[in-house]
Amino acid sequence: MTIDVNSVDEALTTTRAVRLRLDLERAVDNDIIYECIDIAEQAPSGGNQGSRRWIIVRDPAVKAKIAELYMATGGEFMIGARDKLAGTGHPQEKVMKSAAYLAEHLAEAPAIVIPTIIGTHDGSGRPGLFDSVIQSVWSFCVALRARGLGTSWTTAILGKGDKLAELLGVPDGNTQIAVIPVAWTKGTDFKQAPRYPAREISFIDRYAHTWVSGPSDPPCHADGPGTVVEADIKASVDDVWPLITDISFGADHSEEFKGARWVDDVGGPSLGAEFIGSNVHPAIGEWDVPCFVHRYVERTEFGWVTSDHDNPGAQWRFELASIAGATRLRYSLIIGPGPSGINAAISAMPDKEPRILFRRIEEHRTNMQRVVDAIKRAAEAAAADSV
Ligand SMILES: Cc1cc2nc3c(=O)[nH]c(=O)nc-3n(C[C@H](O)[C@H](O)[C@H](O)COP(=O)(O)O)c2cc1C
Repeated sequence: MTIDVNSVDEALTTTRAVRLRLDLERAVDNDIIYECIDIAEQAPSGGNQGSRRWIIVRDPAVKAKIAELYMATGGEFMIGARDKLAGTGHPQEKVMKSAAYLAEHLAEAPAIVIPTIIGTHDGSGRPGLFDSVIQSVWSFCVALRARGLGTSWTTAILGKGDKLAELLGVPDGNTQIAVIPVAWTKGTDFKQAPRYPAREISFIDRYAHTWVSGPSDPPCHADGPGTVVEADIKASVDDVWPLITDISFGADHSEEFKGARWVDDVGGPSLGAEFIGSNVHPAIGEWDVPCFVHRYVERTEFGWVTSDHDNPGAQWRFELASIAGATRLRYSLIIGPGPSGINAAISAMPDKEPRILFRRIEEHRTNMQRVVDAIKRAAEAAAADSV
């Protein structure tokens, strides 16, 4: 049988966390749930042991108790967050609206499925246990999606997992994985969600080594080698943003970057603004490079290209994202496509191009790590001061 790739990809890329569009009025047969569990059970497990056990809750009284527990463990928070964020345009506004709705209506879901696995995590540091069940539960969600049903993977309730286990009679020594409302969806069109492109979060052969294209064999400058450094900072976006848009901040921390100044009295960061960066390197000497701000989204993204706006020698970018209790900072670099200092070294030793690129990337990464560490220290100190 030939697999219809488009259908598989469509199901895989549009299996969303469905909450607002769960059809709470339409009954769901047990048969379709069993069918999807049969499909899910084809997923792999360590040692090929069939240890997954599934609870399908249909009894309205039990669903009501689950909903009550869910409300106490996460629902109240979600409702509070929805009310606080309503109309603010905050990145979490939509998610919280949807999450709060589910909290208010969980008991009305036609079925609530709780996948479990026999065993408890051994704390060994290996993913153990979870890696024999999560892929199967996701297959379950995708199989339902392919049939016109929706799910939402929730774990808030597991903060009181013992109470849930007691309610459902789950024996000691078993682990509950999630609480998944199941319903037909209102409409079947769901969109892909914005996610990082694979090339920005996948590395070839060594952590944090990215490529815009290829890489060729052997890798070359035209492949767009790059790198990225990330840190979770215990501070707000407001604490971190002024540091990443301070173009001179890195000078005290990087061994190569020595300072920067805005051109033409622009005085601060904005889209299209130009600054001059000063650098020093034992093999290259000292040099200044014009930089052009090409990405600027307040409190979210600050990026610039060097040398030539249309054919940059390098592309630098800071990005910020709010995550639970912290701000994630991402600092990335792409070398090229235009020429920069590295091209002289490649021209002198063309047969060593892959090695030169690898070393240059590692060198940049070390300096970027120093800058990120310093931003983290400064932002966390600022956050502690403002408490
Ligand atoms: C481990 C995990 C726990 C989650 N817990 C909850 C939860 O308790 N309540 C909820 O409404 N959504 C929960 N979600 C759903 C996420 O909020 C959702 O996946 C995210 O908003 C992205 O939406 P999408 O899956 O439609 O792309 C959870 C998802 C995962 C993977």
